Amino acid sequence: MLESAEIVQRFLSAKRQVHPEVVAWIREQNDPGLVDRILRETPDDVVVVSRAAIPSIRPERDGVRFLSDPLEVLAGAAGSSDPITSVQDYVHYFRDRYTRLGGLVRSRVHAMPIEALVRSSRYRQQECTIIGMVIEGRGTAKGHRIVQLEDPTGVIPVLFNKNRPDFDQAERLVPDEVVGVRGKLSDEGSLFYGEQILRPEVPVSHAPFLSKEPGKAVLISDVHVGSNTFLPEAWDRFAGWLHESDEIGYLLIAGDLVDGIGVYPGQEQELVISNIDEQYAEFGRMLGDLPAHLRIVAAPGNHDVVRGAEPQPALPERFAAHLPENCTLVENPALVSLQGVRILMYHGRAMDDLISLIPGATYERPGEMMEEMLRRRHLAPSYGRRTPLAAAKLDRHLIDPVPEVLLTGHVHILGLCQYRGVLGVNAGAWQSQTAFQKQMNVNPTPARAVVLDLQTLVPEVLDFS
Ligand SMILES: [Fe+2]
Ligand SMILES: [Fe+2]
Repeated sequence: MLESAEIVQRFLSAKRQVHPEVVAWIREQNDPGLVDRILRETPDDVVVVSRAAIPSIRPERDGVRFLSDPLEVLAGAAGSSDPITSVQDYVHYFRDRYTRLGGLVRSRVHAMPIEALVRSSRYRQQECTIIGMVIEGRGTAKGHRIVQLEDPTGVIPVLFNKNRPDFDQAERLVPDEVVGVRGKLSDEGSLFYGEQILRPEVPVSHAPFLSKEPGKAVLISDVHVGSNTFLPEAWDRFAGWLHESDEIGYLLIAGDLVDGIGVYPGQEQELVISNIDEQYAEFGRMLGDLPAHLRIVAAPGNHDVVRGAEPQPALPERFAAHLPENCTLVENPALVSLQGVRILMYHGRAMDDLISLIPGATYERPGEMMEEMLRRRHLAPSYGRRTPLAAAKLDRHLIDPVPEVLLTGHVHILGLCQYRGVLGVNAGAWQSQTAFQKQMNVNPTPARAVVLDLQTLVPEVLDFS
């Protein structure tokens, strides 16, 4: 198996630099002749070899989208989430997750079922790959990491040595994510030595769809109407700007539309509108004051009136009645197509879990958490933590298909990321620092709106604070 340092060195000897994304891809291919072939086929004037410079990585762009309407809700339309019954469907839920995410890894590498690997002695000390769901991970006394990995046939402890190159990735494994692990079975067959972690991933060849027609969308989240820290003047400046800019066709709002009631202890002291109907009425008035040609899509967040367990249903009629007709209500998460550009809207509560589980992760850089979600092809990998997930037959948090844009909110801090052709946007909030955030030392970046050009997917951040 080629290690990253060796790959980088071979490019340097040929007087080239290589993009880390290409290094990761080469390692995964496990093909000894690949570096030489890439060096041979890369044009002479290329200094940094990125995926775009390699002719054999052909961008796979799905260039055909059949559009019946410029705005379509592809997943998470109002009414599509299952009601929570007394018995949740854990078995189907985790099987669906394993089958679909494991399938993404399996499409790139040949993998063995754990039971077949352990049963036969002929695989001992031979390099192979297994695909499983992480049950739990812990550090050993010597600083290595042991992770229990389960597939439908069995469970095996996987040891990641702290001195091996993928150890940092092993430390970032979170419970219930699905990964492939390349490595070797121990002599006695009871332990797997993990060398390389293969995540479901966005394909290296992924190229985003671009709208053929001109069009712009504004992406925001976390309006928190009703809170005493909601910023009405900033919102008015935003509304005024929308009236002046006739290019904007769409407004997407990724949850926490209002501040809600009873969301946390003592919230009533921080509300200027303490009645939930009145909060949505005020939110509806604000949307009604925006240009009527705008097509608005609004999803709920953990402060909204619907159940907390995700997928969260769209706002019920009692509250939806306050909103103008140009507003489409969707669930959380939801996949929306604007002129063929797919935007995955997720409020982002699972960032709380990812930030607590991934070493070095912080609320200050939500872009990195969106990248972690994309690599795992899952919005909320860990079950049973702060993010309540409703276990239904299908796992609705899978990132499938790969969207052009991932829009999240919840952390109230602006963050952007670009990962393998996917744009990640965490839009900030319309609320200044709350007492709770002050206590937690979270410094929000309120009153930002991200303008997305649907023909280029280039984001522009506007500051209305
Ligand atoms: Fe929020
Ligand atoms: Fe939130």
